[in-house]
Amino acid sequence: MSKFPKRYTITAALPYTNGPVHIGHLAGVYVPADIYARYQRLQERDVVFICGSDEHGVPITIKAKKEGITPQEVVDKYHSIIKKSFDDFGISFDNYSRTSAKIHHDTASAFFKKLYEEGKFIEEITEQLYDEEAQQFLADRFVTGTCPKCGNEESYGDQCERCGTSHNATDLINPKSTISGSKPVLKETKHWFLPLDQYESWLKEWIVVGHKNDWKTNVLGQCKSWIDDGLRPRAVTRDLDWGIPVPVDGADGKVLYVWFDAPIGYISATKEWAEREGKDWEPYWKDEESKLLHFIGKDNIVFHCIIFPSMLKAEGSYILPNNVPANEFLNLEGNKISTSKNWAVWLHEYLQEFPNQQDVLRYVLTANAPETKDNDFTWADFQARNNNELVAIFGNFINRVTVLTHKYYNGEVPSSGVLSETDERTLQELKTYPEVIASSLEKYRFREAQAELMNVARLGNKYLADEEPWKTIKTDEERTGTIMYVALQIATTLAVLCEPFLPFTSKKLKGLLNFSDLKENLQWNTVSNNSNLLPTGHVCGESELLFSKIEDEQIQQQLDKLEASKKANKAMSTSLTPQKETISYDDFSKMDLRVGTIVEAEKMPKANKLLVLKVDTGLDVRTIVSGIAESFSPEEIVGKKVTVLVNLAPRALRGVESEGMILMTENAEGKLVFLNPDEEVPNGNTIN
Ligand code: 2FM
Ligand code: ZN
Repeated sequence: MSKFPKRYTITAALPYTNGPVHIGHLAGVYVPADIYARYQRLQERDVVFICGSDEHGVPITIKAKKEGITPQEVVDKYHSIIKKSFDDFGISFDNYSRTSAKIHHDTASAFFKKLYEEGKFIEEITEQLYDEEAQQFLADRFVTGTCPKCGNEESYGDQCERCGTSHNATDLINPKSTISGSKPVLKETKHWFLPLDQYESWLKEWIVVGHKNDWKTNVLGQCKSWIDDGLRPRAVTRDLDWGIPVPVDGADGKVLYVWFDAPIGYISATKEWAEREGKDWEPYWKDEESKLLHFIGKDNIVFHCIIFPSMLKAEGSYILPNNVPANEFLNLEGNKISTSKNWAVWLHEYLQEFPNQQDVLRYVLTANAPETKDNDFTWADFQARNNNELVAIFGNFINRVTVLTHKYYNGEVPSSGVLSETDERTLQELKTYPEVIASSLEKYRFREAQAELMNVARLGNKYLADEEPWKTIKTDEERTGTIMYVALQIATTLAVLCEPFLPFTSKKLKGLLNFSDLKENLQWNTVSNNSNLLPTGHVCGESELLFSKIEDEQIQQQLDKLEASKKANKAMSTSLTPQKETISYDDFSKMDLRVGTIVEAEKMPKANKLLVLKVDTGLDVRTIVSGIAESFSPEEIVGKKVTVLVNLAPRALRGVESEGMILMTENAEGKLVFLNPDEEVPNGNTIN
């Protein structure tokens, strides 16, 4: 491959259509993907940027049941909300498709069929969980139970949201049907499995060795841990009535697993785009000189780095992703974003409440992008970044340049005159920015790239503050012309370079500078090779403010909205969980509950959610592995009094024997809290 690929196939995770998009999705996936796609287009590279709605899977059928409508009605509703909000937010997909489209059903069926015919699947009759009341097999989210890895009692059948492990429903301890609440039974059924174990050594070589230097460490870490745990065959079909029918004989009532069909959606969406544009889709997916990139959140890593590549490899004619720059999660005001708790900033609501302020949100989400660790969005920070950075730095510079150009020269770019050493140095520095920003973007470091973009505006502000054209205009008209000429070149560079990050601002600024009258269409490279971007005599458009201050009241309204969600959750949580089955006193007395103290705590290596604790139970000091690392740091809990179930059968978690369980509850924000006596009580006291 030459230094740059021949073409870029950029995908952004297909959002599920059982709810709208929120800021977590935007920060993790869509904003960085859009910046990258826009940047590559500005580099005049051949780009296709693909996305669409992920319309199959159990959550959609659950939502339909809840709302008393059909799954098709659910996906139609959210598909249009999501599509419109992406559009209005300036996410520049070349195609936003949907997995209910015929082209997708055909593509996914053909893909499955090819693998089936070439004997790439294992066909097996296995026992699956079955709800006798509902007379239905319980795939994926139709079942909850205890995660075998971290002990989370609310894990779903396909994935544990606490520790991120992806498993089979039959792996759950104490499974329960989410349809009827009953305990499922095991019933035989036939399914097709992709034998991931056969791809293990190839995956290891391709990812762990081949991509050790260019994939992000969070992505490599998850892949390694999956591979080290040993890969097992994975069912790619389900007993469900919502999805793509399994296209082989003897598969009535079975559909493709949503995670089998969804990533193929990237291919179908490319085909749909190519048909519309009169292009050939195949080079984007089959030519080794194309660069395939998947922008996703961290919960999708296994599917994009292990399962989908194995599918592509099995199929044989496709290229593999060159990179999967997955992000971590964005929290909101210190708490995990939660759809069910309405703890989120919804994109469609933001667009209504902050009209024409798309770029403010884009800017703040990039400035706080969860690139290497989870990060937090706060409304106070949103306001501060707008008022102190966009308004005070970027907007202020542009405003000064455009207002002064109109005041002194009726909007006409003055002659450059004789450039001073400072002018030369400033223009020279200006020309370095395209490369500096590009270098960060090529490494998927979007925060860093945007910070450098702001340095261009800072350069402009400093230049004006040092050269003071408002003073020289009184004494030296020629010098003033030169200063304004240089400042206008900085503004022009900003208009081009900010386009990937702040597309609406870029458009407005190009209007202020009247780009439509320029002979040349300015691109990324033009601004790094040329200092005379806005030539003498060019007439600028009307001056207008780029950004406006966000007032305290607007922020307070948002905080009030969140407070209302908090209150509603609190009310729900006190009334929600139904009482469990009655137990006898004997049942209760079997539990040996004691007061204890945490005496040591450390993180479990390679597990984000687990802490390894040493707890003084009064009887002994024992090891307990607890899934609380997301709510507490080890340091803050040493010395805490806790309630311990001491006679729980020991269990190995990640190879560490855990001898008991710490009792916990959740506060209104979903943060775990310990149950402890409100008076000093010695360790070992029993709880009756
Ligand atoms: O996590 C999600 O929202 C999934 N719908 C992402 C699917 S990505 C792709 F494979 F389609
Ligand atoms: Zn778990």
